[in-house]
Amino acid sequence: MDSLSQNSSAVKFYSGENIPLELHKVRIVQKLHLVPIERRLEALYEGGFNTFQLNTTDVFLDMLTDSGTNAMSDKQLSAMMIADDAYAGSQSFIRLQKAVDDVLGKKYLLPVHQGRAAEHILGVAYVKKGSMVPMNYHFTTALAHITECGGQISELLYPEAYKIDSDHPFKGNMNIEALEECIQKHGKDNIPYIRMEASTNLIGGQPFSVQNMRDVRAIADKYGIRLVLDASLLGENAYLVKQREAEFQDKSMAEILLTFTGMADIIYFSARKLSSSRGGGICTNDIKVYKELEALVPLFEGFLTYGGISIREVEAMAVGLYETLDETMISQSPSFIKYLVEEAKKLGIPMITPPGVLGAHVDAMSFCSHIPQTQYPAGALAAAFFLISGVRGMERGSVSNQRDENGNETYADMELLRLAVPRRVFTLSQVKYVIDRLKWLYDNREMIGGLKFYYEPSVLRFFMGKLEPTSDWPQKLVAKFRADFGDSL
Ligand code: F0G
Repeated sequence: MDSLSQNSSAVKFYSGENIPLELHKVRIVQKLHLVPIERRLEALYEGGFNTFQLNTTDVFLDMLTDSGTNAMSDKQLSAMMIADDAYAGSQSFIRLQKAVDDVLGKKYLLPVHQGRAAEHILGVAYVKKGSMVPMNYHFTTALAHITECGGQISELLYPEAYKIDSDHPFKGNMNIEALEECIQKHGKDNIPYIRMEASTNLIGGQPFSVQNMRDVRAIADKYGIRLVLDASLLGENAYLVKQREAEFQDKSMAEILLTFTGMADIIYFSARKLSSSRGGGICTNDIKVYKELEALVPLFEGFLTYGGISIREVEAMAVGLYETLDETMISQSPSFIKYLVEEAKKLGIPMITPPGVLGAHVDAMSFCSHIPQTQYPAGALAAAFFLISGVRGMERGSVSNQRDENGNETYADMELLRLAVPRRVFTLSQVKYVIDRLKWLYDNREMIGGLKFYYEPSVLRFFMGKLEPTSDWPQKLVAKFRADFGDSL
């Protein structure tokens, strides 16, 4: 019986209906706010049509991110109560070190306050002017820290990765031939490390295979370059390997995770994602690497046994890391994403396929094909969807890009509305509401108009930037909503 799959999609319904089943019960709840569309319109103007600038009192379903918003387990919460608060030598840190060694197979751990702090430290330690960091795809903060240190990046995916509608199981795979060309072009001495991001965040949460990482490892060995794994979304990546890579279908989550991590010289992660807690970490088995980075942690983060993380969260991290091995937990978000993507697709809504991790991704370039990239179709779609549903997603398109060194716009490869599905937070009827409202907006998509910046910060502009609509399209959308839904919320 132990060999029977224990995941959300493994339970068959007598009716034949194909839906994921929650394998947990809800014991603490939080009230949501579904405010009238007229209030949401005001909130959008107050927040510069940027969903980061909204208050949760105006948000119904918060699908902005899974970062720090995954549901915590009873075991995580109870572990927080036994935290050993100490500036130095905390037993909570010893427990975390053990969890990192057990789950990720790395003996040396440097705690940091969140994932981007790890990127900062790696940048300061290894990236300098003229450095080139090859990677499968960038993440916003990873790129910003590398460029802050004077380096550049090369994104090396296969062409399939840029196809919206695909059945390729591993669109996050690094392009091996391009990697070797990149090394030869820039010279191995200018490449401080190769970065592999588990489940390319910005282009649809797409995983890479174990085989692909083996091929990358072989190239790294050939040229003597370090391999860095961004493991923030490694749990779900490993779950999709179990689903999609034949060699691993009978392997446990623990075995798959260790297979991945065993190939990396350095691993870093956002614990806000990986372990459903807060914090982050850098870990390695290489004492030389540890020593190179050690001094930077007390300088930027905090003492080596807490790294800027509250000790309670250190306990939650340790328990959360073990819980990534539990398929009933780790399957929940990908199963709900799969349901959302497949049902939306049936209704004709353009979605990134195959369904990935972190969230469902709507293709704004096609949804809003009438809006030019200069007017930020993904930003406009994120604002319009919040307006008509109260569901807060995140723009993952050109607004999330940074300008080049000459101050020119760089347009994103994809214009996406990301609807994050944090672990064990939403119910299926809430997901059905999302699909219903997406369909209404799709049927009224011609009414969505563009956006333009009126306040644009120079670094990570998508967080604090403010935009305005290019016409009165939001008011017209509100009027159409009222005409169709009457006095419904
Ligand atoms: N790497 C990846 C792949 C991430 O997804 C994130 C965060 C980070 C690094 C940075 O970690 O936020 O703890 O500093 N992603 C969040 C998101 C912000 O919404 O996708 P952090």
